Amino acid sequence: MINHWTFRCKAVSELIPYCEIVTGVPCGYVICGASGDLTHRKLIPAVFSLFRAKKIPEQFFVVGFARSVMADSDFRQRVIDSLQQAYGEIAKTEIENFVMRCFYVVGSYDQDDGYRKLNEKLEELGRRFGTEGNLVFHIATPPSLYATIVSFLGKNGVVKRHQNEKAFHRVIVEKPFGQDLKSAVNLNKDLLKYLADEQIYRIDHYLGKETVQNILMFRFANQIFEPAWNRHYIDHVQITVAEQLGVEHRAGYFEQAGLLRDMFQNHMLQLAALVGMEPPVDASAESVRDEKVKFMKSIRSFDLEHLETQLIRGQYSGGEASGKNLTAYREEEGVAATSCIETYFAMKLFVDNWRWKDVPFYLQAGKRLKQKLSRIAVIFKKVPHSMFARNLKDLDPSPNVLFFEIQPRQRTSLHFQAKVPGAKMCLAPLKMELDYRDVFGTKMDEDYSTLILDCMLGDQTLYWRRDGVETSWKLLTPVLKKWEAESQEEKERMLERYAGGSWGPAAGNRFIEKDGRHWIVP
Ligand code: BG6
Repeated sequence: MINHWTFRCKAVSELIPYCEIVTGVPCGYVICGASGDLTHRKLIPAVFSLFRAKKIPEQFFVVGFARSVMADSDFRQRVIDSLQQAYGEIAKTEIENFVMRCFYVVGSYDQDDGYRKLNEKLEELGRRFGTEGNLVFHIATPPSLYATIVSFLGKNGVVKRHQNEKAFHRVIVEKPFGQDLKSAVNLNKDLLKYLADEQIYRIDHYLGKETVQNILMFRFANQIFEPAWNRHYIDHVQITVAEQLGVEHRAGYFEQAGLLRDMFQNHMLQLAALVGMEPPVDASAESVRDEKVKFMKSIRSFDLEHLETQLIRGQYSGGEASGKNLTAYREEEGVAATSCIETYFAMKLFVDNWRWKDVPFYLQAGKRLKQKLSRIAVIFKKVPHSMFARNLKDLDPSPNVLFFEIQPRQRTSLHFQAKVPGAKMCLAPLKMELDYRDVFGTKMDEDYSTLILDCMLGDQTLYWRRDGVETSWKLLTPVLKKWEAESQEEKERMLERYAGGSWGPAAGNRFIEKDGRHWIVP
């Protein structure tokens, strides 16, 4: 075990000297699926935090739209509960000022009635709160309802396609965006019947995380890393997204999806694209997304005859953590006793372009792992010749590693070799670290707040574009189809169990060790 000495970074002189502060514009925020879990865990706390920080103006209201029968007062009580759960005690005046802007409309998603009521309500609230007709719709329902809701919003004139009108109507569509290439293409087509592409905001909440956004700044606002950011200096890239939680109450969805769809088609490929893309011409949504799509198109297709060399599937069995027994996936409520759905997944990608040819990108993600951790590691090549080898008994100095830690710690660190005082010949790896909390001292914006504010501002940089979603499905769909056609016996054979609370299946280690490398875990 090598010890790392750490020294901290300090922000240089004036903090945040180049900062573009943006605030939202008057608008109403409509949540379709307002009685659901996402609304209360994420969306309500996110808009409240924007409102509290005055990033959105007083000309603002929230409307919840869903099938459950509720009065405004019931919805408001739920809003209060979710805010208290998210933020603990909040000043009464702050809560009151927010909650008096929250309303609820009940309606079936596939009947005109509810949408008519919604329309009337939005017109009345628009006048009352002075939102100038601007509306953001957030579709947070089960995915099978996305197209239906948008078509009913469109047919009933609740959402209007932009035609040089002054007011904006924008629609945030939750993930998963499709189940495979065909369904994603169809969903895009369905939405585009009623909306222009600039009105569609395909969300990936990982892109709203500060530490994920930092990757672009780090790479393209500094000169020193970019010349080494290629196959000549980088040995490989590792992306790990580990979760401690199991499937929880989402078995219904997860049994249909599995981890490849749930985490790889979106978050994992987005992280890989941020590390691997070419420098965009500018920071506009189109330029950034052009480069991401180009990167995804350069990913080599999987060899369907030898998938096991590139892909590993695992599923958690029972385990133990902090003295508590952990349930096996197959015993979770709503999970089939013979389910072969993967809860862990590892993937090796190759990117066929001049920058990355033959540099593997190893990606792994899993549920019910040892701890929550999302981290990218860029592992540089070893020095070509170690002049210290003779004195240090052939000890091979470890290579430089650059870490982007996304959560729970939010840090960027560079590991490098340096002389340790004392013996003439003494080397040790040191860690130069930027910890966001230490340096910036404040709690950072929640991912959803950033993204919802961007939507209100009409900025699609951190949202998926149509071709991006379709390109990522194009890569993964042949694999999904192949698996779906496998016999139960074959599925069982390819699925390795791992103890809940561990770092995943042994196969996940073997597959990277075969290449003479290993996962860097804490
Ligand atoms: C979601 C997945 O997109 O991301 C979940 O559907 C997963 O299964 C979640 O738990 C992880 O997000 P975070 O921000 O907690 O890392």
